[in-house]
Amino acid sequence: MKINKNFDNLVPNYLFADVAKKTADYAAANPDKKIIRLGIGDVTLPLAPVVVEAMKRGAENLAHKESFKGYPDYEGYAFVREAISGYYKSFGVTVSADEIFVSDGAKSDCGNIGDIFAQDNTVLVTDPVYPVYVDANIMAGRKIVYAASNRGNGFAAMPDDSVKVDIIYLCSPNNPTGAAYTAEQLKAWVDYALKNDAIILYDSAYEAFITEDLPRSIFAIEGARQCAIEMCSLSKTAGFTGTRCGYTVIPKELARDGHSIYDTWYRRQATKFNGVSWPVQCAAAAVFSEEGQRQIKENIAYYQENARIIASALDELGIYYTGGKNSPYIWLQCPNGMGSWEFFDFLLENANVVGTPGEGFGENGKGFFRLTSFGDRENTIEAVERIKALLK
Ligand code: MLT
Repeated sequence: MKINKNFDNLVPNYLFADVAKKTADYAAANPDKKIIRLGIGDVTLPLAPVVVEAMKRGAENLAHKESFKGYPDYEGYAFVREAISGYYKSFGVTVSADEIFVSDGAKSDCGNIGDIFAQDNTVLVTDPVYPVYVDANIMAGRKIVYAASNRGNGFAAMPDDSVKVDIIYLCSPNNPTGAAYTAEQLKAWVDYALKNDAIILYDSAYEAFITEDLPRSIFAIEGARQCAIEMCSLSKTAGFTGTRCGYTVIPKELARDGHSIYDTWYRRQATKFNGVSWPVQCAAAAVFSEEGQRQIKENIAYYQENARIIASALDELGIYYTGGKNSPYIWLQCPNGMGSWEFFDFLLENANVVGTPGEGFGENGKGFFRLTSFGDRENTIEAVERIKALLK
């Protein structure tokens, strides 16, 4: 018996597990301290009432023979896919219900999609990067190339025509930097992918946080249907981090190497995934109802105000940052030339505030730090006051 040796090439711990462990150790050693966690992007507001009602009704259905449900359809129930299709329409993008797969979240799909691609494809990620794209491809033994996002390009890496890759992960608004691509920038990526016969895996998990006139979907860009797959999630949009539901869009015409990508992914899902539970799919559909949209937007506005509070403190302190405007994340340069983990320790020990060290997201994250706006208001204000007192 042999283990997959590619695992030896991973960093020892998943970033957020590392942060959680360090925080737990500090908390255990300092039980009197009130620690404020603005590290992992986990939501704090409850599910919207209309979503909870739908979930309860879904659970009740399971209690009766007439309304009981067993295995769901592999691609998700049609009424949920119709609701998602309608949501795309609300911001002017055409995606038909039969191009959508309902899943347990964008993280799983971003990792699992690699199953359908050959091992010898080269993968491009922008750096800093959500670790899942990198780790999933290291596990599969793929070669990874990095496109630098940095202060020079506003943390929006662009394609380099002299580099040939096959799979491109993009995340906009970006995790971790909060920077969001413009339509022109995305068009450049689409053109690059078309020219190189590559596929873009577009993570739009944070699209609901866009406030400016920026694309909410890669499919807003001409040519994307011939080169892109989009993954989205209700985790941040509707507070589903624990409930688990997301969706992946694969245009029917998308094909590579003589294979329909939709059909290949369907085959993969039917083999390895039995779908999202009935109560959760009922809850997901409610997110896209008129009342659901109204209620979740209230929650998003609450987090956006937290982001504004954090950003304005950084403005006051004269600290460079990106994000916060179209994103729940604020990506800041560590003050006084500190390294990412150095600043992590400094903030934890002196302000009892937890953030995520930028270095954990890649080479270009060195010297940077991420704060999330998903905390509750009181704690966010308190954290900001402590940070201001410490750094003034
Ligand atoms: C994050 O903090 O980057 C996210 O919560 C991680 C995730 O969505 O998996």
